[in-house]
Amino acid sequence: MLRAAMIAELDAVNIYEQMANLTKNEKIRKILLDIAREEKIHVAMFETVLLQTDREFLKIYADYALARR
Ligand SMILES: [Fe+2]
Repeated sequence: MLRAAMIAELDAVNIYEQMANLTKNEKIRKILLDIAREEKIHVAMFETVLLQTDREFLKIYADYALARR
């Protein structure tokens, strides 16, 4: 369920950013980008819970992050 929620939130980020790129109205563009940023926070919230509840995912995530240094 957490992964599906993350996918939904990431999809929302893409949709709002695409909409922002399509409008010529600067006020609407700013609102859409603000909403996209809120959706990114939602992604982070679900990802945090996933890392807290899925030890295998946490280990893979940590190993990958350390290997990238
Ligand atoms: Fe959301």
